[in-house]
Amino acid sequence: MLVPAKEMLQKAKAGHYAVGQFNINNLEWTKCILTAAEETKSPVILGVSEGAGKYMAGYKTVVGMVNGMLEEMGITVPVALHLDHGSYEGCMKCIEAGFSSIMFDGSHYPIEENVAKTKELVAICKEKGLSLEAEVGAIGGEEDGVVGMGECADPQECKMVADLGVDFLAAGIGNIHGKYPANWQGLSFETLDEIQKLTGELPLVLHGGTGIPDDMIKKAIDLGVSKINVNTECQLVFAEATRKYIEAGKDQEGKGYDPRKLLKPGSEAIIAKVKEKMELFGSVGQA
Ligand code: 13P
Repeated sequence: MLVPAKEMLQKAKAGHYAVGQFNINNLEWTKCILTAAEETKSPVILGVSEGAGKYMAGYKTVVGMVNGMLEEMGITVPVALHLDHGSYEGCMKCIEAGFSSIMFDGSHYPIEENVAKTKELVAICKEKGLSLEAEVGAIGGEEDGVVGMGECADPQECKMVADLGVDFLAAGIGNIHGKYPANWQGLSFETLDEIQKLTGELPLVLHGGTGIPDDMIKKAIDLGVSKINVNTECQLVFAEATRKYIEAGKDQEGKGYDPRKLLKPGSEAIIAKVKEKMELFGSVGQA
């Protein structure tokens, strides 16, 4: 059964580790991430962007697929199904469809509007039993065609949104989605530290997990990050393994063109990558 992400993240914050949010794109992604979580006894959050939801034929399809897998694969670890960077309308649709957790990304609105909309969703999520992530300070990079530079959130604004009763908070600290440019300045630990001091026990979320050096990840966890989002890195290892398979001509040997064979190296690469991240984040054995 799907669970909200609140409890697993509170536990992570208290235990000084982080739970990974791995974004899903299709059946293979979902199955691989669940396999990695079960094999490592790690709690996990499946992230679905609005674009990915559309690609997978809608949120109801996603809920049906994930619930089916939890049962048929005999998954015992805590799993949350979470809308990633949701609009207000997207959040309403996912609540309706049966997600267990949502993110409302109002970071592009003036702070007053972000606060007002987040507040409404806090009330709805409390009533329906879902967990809610809010965002302050836009996270840069490209996601679903939206491009932005990595910002640093205003710690006072973070406190304002935290006090609304959200369950966890994403704050920009110079992180961006996708690959980091060669001239990237790194994470602003100063900003993170200030935010953490003002928001206390609230679990903080680090987006753009791909390409952040391991030592920075560990320091971010030390400073209060309890959820780390990873998407691009799984896509890169999947593409690389699939390319190698095709370049080696394996799709032309026997029934190598069968999608169950063709997608296998990429799937194995995702499982290995997710396990590696779970190890780094410290969530292994925490289920
Ligand atoms: P990456 O694609 O950079 O790993 O970021 C994922 C993310 O933050 C999803 O919200």
